[in-house]
Amino acid sequence: MGIQISPSVLNADLSNLAAEVARVESVADWIHLDVMDNQFVPNLTFGLPVIEALLRHITVPADCHLMIADPDRWAPGYAEAGAGSVTFHVEAAANPRMVAKDIRAAGARAGVAVKPGTSLTEIADVLPFTDMILIMTVEPGFGGQAFMADMLPKVREARRIADAADVDIWVQVDGGVGPDSIEQCSAAGADVFVAGSAVYRDPDPAVMVEQLRALAENAARP
Ligand code: DX5
Ligand code: ZN
Repeated sequence: MGIQISPSVLNADLSNLAAEVARVESVADWIHLDVMDNQFVPNLTFGLPVIEALLRHITVPADCHLMIADPDRWAPGYAEAGAGSVTFHVEAAANPRMVAKDIRAAGARAGVAVKPGTSLTEIADVLPFTDMILIMTVEPGFGGQAFMADMLPKVREARRIADAADVDIWVQVDGGVGPDSIEQCSAAGADVFVAGSAVYRDPDPAVMVEQLRALAENAARP
């Protein structure tokens, strides 16, 4: 599939979501939508009604990152609403295999996310039903945090796991990804890059998306 860039609107103007997405729509592969419930993480953003409304106004596929408790109950609804990819946290799921299966059955790619302190052994069970592994490179909850370089070995491990699988599993990094960190992530084997503040704090978010893509492509392993 190659390098993909998924700008996060978390630090964009949330009162004007469709317009903010439009600023990157011609260059982004996905738009990353961070759903937070004030339970799984200490922050509250938006949920299914807002995403359903947004989907009527955008053409770029939605990459929903659910930082919520009980994804077993809530995750399939995001796929049914038309998200292209739905990622849940393994730490929050009662039955991760079933969540991933339900997401796929509802027509989306299924992603499984791990917080910085969570080992990849926790996702072994769900891997056969997984389309993407999301390695958090900050503690989930807020945009604009510093990239955790000590997560790079985990990115390499995720790449090994993905390469060993029969199916095509993508490796996504999320948190503090920008011009100073994207090359290390790409060299470690990530292929889907979430960037929030790096993109939306730039005067021209679309140009930044293209810069990030070029940096990631040049640093990617052959
Ligand atoms: C953090 C979110 C990220 C966030 C990234 O919990 O999952 O998607 O928007 O923002 P930056 O790129 O600013 O770290
Ligand atoms: Zn995210």
